[in-house]
Amino acid sequence: MASSGLLAFFQVQVPGAAEHRVTDIFKPLATPAAAERDVAWFTIAVTTLIFIVVAGLIVYTIVRFRRRPGDDLHQEPPQVYGSNQIELAWTVIPILIVFVLIGVTARVVWSVENASPPPSTLHLKVIGHQWWWEVQYPDYGITTANEIHVPFSADGKEATYLELSSADVAHSFWVPQLSGKTDLIPNRLNYMWIDPRQGGVYVGNCAEYCGTQHANMLLRVVAEDRSAFQAWAQGQQKALASSDVSAGRAAFESLSCINCHVIKGTKAIGKFGPDLSHLASRSTLAAGMITNTPENLKKWINDPQEVKPGCLMPSLKLGGPELDQLVSYLGSLK
Ligand code: CUA
Repeated sequence: MASSGLLAFFQVQVPGAAEHRVTDIFKPLATPAAAERDVAWFTIAVTTLIFIVVAGLIVYTIVRFRRRPGDDLHQEPPQVYGSNQIELAWTVIPILIVFVLIGVTARVVWSVENASPPPSTLHLKVIGHQWWWEVQYPDYGITTANEIHVPFSADGKEATYLELSSADVAHSFWVPQLSGKTDLIPNRLNYMWIDPRQGGVYVGNCAEYCGTQHANMLLRVVAEDRSAFQAWAQGQQKALASSDVSAGRAAFESLSCINCHVIKGTKAIGKFGPDLSHLASRSTLAAGMITNTPENLKKWINDPQEVKPGCLMPSLKLGGPELDQLVSYLGSLK
């Protein structure tokens, strides 16, 4: 009972749980993540060995020199004023260990940062916002949010390079099975790359405390084969126009939504919030918090503060037919 309650809790918090993807740094599915996993294991092995030696010596000392019946309680133990050999040993050995760890880590950092990209490389810009991810595809003219579609290849022939920046505070991009963390810092560009080896959805999150809803700044990388990726990109490039939701579109354009959101082909050209041109093609709302269903969308538009307290989307308090029209219009943006 308790465990199913816990499971339900996690499923609400992390919808990706249903996607058969473990966000586990020890199960890497991309080159940078694999290199980092190896150096993590090496570090864990070395530090475990140190722990065993130190803890073993402590236990030995406690047992060997414990108080025994018949000990003279007023007698001081033998006073030892240093040993050059021991002090040299416990100074030099840790220094050597630290240098080995530095060397191994530096080699991995260098090899990841200086890896030559394969011929087929996608370049993206990822911009951190409180509390969502903006994703731009400059070569395709696409802007989306929170869901990053990339091509994958089993033999590492497809890589995606990310240029990371922030619109407000420091964030950190982390998809554990694809790569380590890289910060998104205001007024600075950071870079990283990923090359998923399997198709599927990789769940990640912001890994740098960035305010109230930091924990709900989730992201997902959808790795598809080249042709599926191209089909997705072509779909995203279109501006959608559907006549049977024109009431919803009119409602949308009459509201303050247009000051913060873009919908291609409409009056909405605001840049503060996520681009909604293809909102219905995304699997979640509110940066991965809730699944993208009509009921959730309605709840979200009606009162974002209820769903994600502190988020920067105001409650419009619409209600009635206008709300339903908005939901069906946004739901049509596939
Ligand atoms: Cu963005 Cu934490």
